[in-house]
Order: sequence, then C-alpha cells, then structure tokens
Amino acid sequence: MQNYFLKNLEEARYNSTINEFKCNLNAVIMTIHIKNSQEIEKMRIAGKLASQVLDYITPFVNPGITTEEIDRLCHDFMVNVQKTIPAPLNYAPDGHTPYPKSICTSINHQICHGVPGPKALKDGDIVNIDITVIKDGFHGDTSRMFLLGETSIQAKRLCKMTYEAMWLGIQQVKPGAKLGDIGFVIQDFAEKNGFSVVREFCGHGIGKRFHEEPQVLHYGKPGTGLTLEAGLIFTIEPMINAGKRDIKQMPDGWTIVTKDRSLSAQWEHTILVTETGYEVLTVSEKTPAPPAFAN
Ligand code: MF3
Ligand code: CO
Ligand code: CO
Repeated sequence: MQNYFLKNLEEARYNSTINEFKCNLNAVIMTIHIKNSQEIEKMRIAGKLASQVLDYITPFVNPGITTEEIDRLCHDFMVNVQKTIPAPLNYAPDGHTPYPKSICTSINHQICHGVPGPKALKDGDIVNIDITVIKDGFHGDTSRMFLLGETSIQAKRLCKMTYEAMWLGIQQVKPGAKLGDIGFVIQDFAEKNGFSVVREFCGHGIGKRFHEEPQVLHYGKPGTGLTLEAGLIFTIEPMINAGKRDIKQMPDGWTIVTKDRSLSAQWEHTILVTETGYEVLTVSEKTPAPPAFAN
C-alpha cells in the first residue's frame, strides 16, 4: 500500500464479493478527476492560499519556538485572516484516529505527518512544514523545508537535493507523459546521490477531496503508469532519506520516522497539467525559486 489515505483502494481489497469489488473498482477509477476551468480557478486560489501560510510562518521558524506554537499561529492565520479551513484538523482516514492539529511539522528524522507538540526547535534542526487549506470546497497542499541556524553539510545537501528531485519530477509533467516518468527521475536522482526514496507515502490527486486518485509514486519506471492529460491536478511531494528507505510509525499513530533515524526531507507542490506542460498552483510571493536547471 503506497498511501494510507486511499480508502477506495483499501475497500476494494477488503471486500469479498466480486460485485462489491467491481463497484469499488469503479469508484476508484471515477475518482481520477479532470478539472474544468471553474474548478481550476478555485484550485489556483486554494494553492496560493496554502503557499501564503508558509510565507506567513517563515519569519517565526527560529530556534526556541515550539511546533505547537507554529501550529497555533498557522491555524489562526488560516481561520481568522484567510477564512480557510485547515484540512488536516480532525482528518480521519481509515485506520487512523482524527489528526489532532492543523498542520504537520516533521523534524530531522521525522519523514511526514509529524504532530506539532511542546518541543522547541533548536539550532541545526531541519523541519518540514506541510500546509493544506480548503477554500470554497477546494484543497491546496504544499510543504517546504526550513533549516534552522547552522545545519550540517549533510542536512543542507539532503534538503537541496530533495528540492531538486521534486523539480525534476515537476518538469516531467505534460499531456502524454506517464506517471512513471515522474517517479523515475526522482528515484534515479535520489539514489545516484546516495539517498533513498520513501515508498509508503506518495503524491496524490487533489481537488474537492484531500487525497484523490491517482497515486503519484516517487519511484518507478519511465513509460509506465497513467497517461497525463490536461486538467489533471496532483501533488508531487518526494520524501527522501539520507539513510535507508525504511519507515516506522510512532505510537501517536501519525508521526512517521526513518527506521534508522537518518535525516529525512520533503518538499511539496500542487501541480496542474496544462495543454503544453505544467502550472505550479501552490505559488505566492515568497515561494522559493525553481532550481537553475528548471528555468
Ligand atoms: N499534507 C499531507 C499530504 O501532503 C497530508 C497530511 S494528512 C494529516 O498529503 F492528517 F496528517 F494532516
Ligand atoms: Co499532499
Ligand atoms: Co501536504
């Protein structure tokens, strides 16, 4: 299972009769949704708002602040200023207790879904902040890495290369390309640089629902998988480990860490397939520039 959040796939697996299976299989297929121009415009707005939460929080992300305080600041900004809904709050996919916070903060060896808590960030930490907002019924989902003070050479290299890996994936996006093309370039780049790719979590279609089909794997073979077409919207959000790819779930039922406790990094954008290529929807004033090779 690549993503714990795809209820339909799980149901399809667990249902026993052929008819139920077919029925659920249809549900899976039908959730691959090509957005029309009105929906795309709403996704642009949601994407920009998600990115603006990261812009807003950036000056606060310093040694001494707790992730709980970061969560509170983001929550209040979303609810009171933006009038958006923090999608993670009470999100409860199958097999999970409702997510207790409004954002995810994953520090150092935490891979993803880190639950904000009372621990203060410190000099040398790397932290991923992952924001998903709902505006007018549509989701925007994006995350960035934050490097606090003096970080190790390895931490800097991991964060930079994970960003480049995401962008190599983004650059594959155009009508006619395959999902496997995206996964391949990410995996190839990460592994050639001595890192590993997390397999259990992946990018995802997004729209009226937080996690839609298709699953966007960050590994794979070129020329395989779903063919992209204009109007498809999904995230690319590689999780790259400095050590081995193996993961472990913490007793809180949410936080995912590297089994070998090596550092892990992640970046995420929400991407629209256009007639000629791609449009990054999660952009705002302070979005980091693409790497030089993507210009
Ligand atoms: N934002 C994450 C993603 O990129 C999902 C977080 S779900 C939560 O898919 F419940 F952990 F918040
Ligand atoms: Co996502
Ligand atoms: Co996210």
